[in-house]
Amino acid sequence: MADIIFVLADGETQKKISAEQGETLLDLAHKGQLDVEGTCEGSMACSTCHMIIDENYFDMLPAPSDEEEYLLDLTFGLKPTSRLGCQVVVTEEADGMKVYLPEASRNMML
Ligand code: FES
Repeated sequence: MADIIFVLADGETQKKISAEQGETLLDLAHKGQLDVEGTCEGSMACSTCHMIIDENYFDMLPAPSDEEEYLLDLTFGLKPTSRLGCQVVVTEEADGMKVYLPEASRNMML
């Protein structure tokens, strides 16, 4: 349906992962065995699924909820195009989108 290109924390290595209908960026990261925890499994309690979205695609995504915004504000290494990967459902329009994994993340559940 859509191919997403993940740029790993080293800033160079890229991995293309194909999304099926309804999958989130966190689902894809797990499918591709990337180094992304997603400790709370999408219940917006950890922020270990922090990802930085390609600025060319960022505005096309549905806006984050208030809860996501709140958790993002507490996220280590926040960038203007940061999102929680568990909250971004991949659509066909996202085909070719780059998603950057941060160098580190903070687990809010600890
Ligand atoms: Fe915990 Fe996304 S998996 S906030």
